[in-house]
Amino acid sequence: MLSRLSFTTAALCRGLSTTAQNNASVAVLGAAGGIGQPLSLLLKNSPLVSKLSLYDIAHTPGVAADLSHVETRAEVTGFIGADQLPHSLKDVDVVVIPAGVPRKPGMTRDDLFNTNASIVATLTEACAKHCPEAMICIIANPVNSTIPITSEVFKKHGVYNPNHIFGVTTLDIVRANTFVAQLKGLDPARVNVPVIGGHAGKTIIPLISQCTPKVDFPQDQLEALIGRIQEAGTEVVKAKDGAGSATLSMAYAGARFVFSLLDAMNGKEGVIECSFVRSEETACPYFSTPLLLGKNGIEKNLGMGKLSPYEEKLVAGAMDELKASIKKGEDFVKSRK
Ligand SMILES: NC(=O)c1ccc[n+]([C@@H]2O[C@H](COP(=O)([O-])OP(=O)(O)OC[C@H]3O[C@@H](n4cnc5c(N)ncnc54)[C@H](O)[C@@H]3O)[C@@H](O)[C@H]2O)c1
Repeated sequence: MLSRLSFTTAALCRGLSTTAQNNASVAVLGAAGGIGQPLSLLLKNSPLVSKLSLYDIAHTPGVAADLSHVETRAEVTGFIGADQLPHSLKDVDVVVIPAGVPRKPGMTRDDLFNTNASIVATLTEACAKHCPEAMICIIANPVNSTIPITSEVFKKHGVYNPNHIFGVTTLDIVRANTFVAQLKGLDPARVNVPVIGGHAGKTIIPLISQCTPKVDFPQDQLEALIGRIQEAGTEVVKAKDGAGSATLSMAYAGARFVFSLLDAMNGKEGVIECSFVRSEETACPYFSTPLLLGKNGIEKNLGMGKLSPYEEKLVAGAMDELKASIKKGEDFVKSRK
């Protein structure tokens, strides 16, 4: 009971209405991994979810049996191996994909491309065939390439809807909120920093000038703060010393994003999250900005808003890397048989 209360309280502080009831069917692909397991636990703990489908190439029977004993109504089913992938996607409303290898010290997210590009292409091909209408939330890195990959796969199958495909960048927002709160002595649950651009190094662009509540930093502190947000993933990779990248904070961030999406699909108004999506806001065909979510996914792209001159420079400096990562993802699918 305590855990239910404390999660609900935390969620409410962030404005997430996890007390609302819904009948959403959610699939987690990569459910037995470092992110997949705690993310599945948070989803199982939510009254928004009535069916939870857990797919992985290993260990899902155990994870599903374990989670199924949690005293919440979501019905949990485990699926293992490629033969069972189509069954895991039957009638699902939302698919979350944390499948793929994480970084080790010294690696960039782009170093994961060779392994994760084909994992994401294979899994999203199955989604395009078996749940073409579902919302697809991609956690697997490099997000700057795995979203173009997903989009190209859906186009190939003639079922592309750009309003349904999301690169989950929520952890960047979560980190920015936490670090700003630490520096200013605020409650992190009441801080909101939009983070735009992409999800790797300098493509991560926190808009401190648009933070609520309003905060000010001298330029040197501002640059140090932005640098820390951009490299926060690497901070965790180094601290884990070879044992992977962020899993618990990512599970929290992934759950926050999915709950927002489910709330919006359920008719709640005014739900806004940043996400890396198909976009016409800049010269990049994919870009993260705040999005108004609705019953059909992206209701409206709210754009970048007014940037400070320094933030404008950060956006300009991210464009080449973003465009290259996007093209790499698109080319990968075009050259795939
Ligand atoms: N978007 C973000 O902000 C963010 C943050 C942290 C990590 N990540 C990324 O999330 C991914 C997963 O990280 P993790 O720490 O959970 O890794 P992990 O190695 O602990 O787990 C990955 C899981 O994927 C499974 N898997 C591998 N190939 C699969 C396939 N073809 N089908 C289904 N499942 C498959 C593995 O069996 C494993 O259970 C990585 O790519 C990592 O870089 C993204």
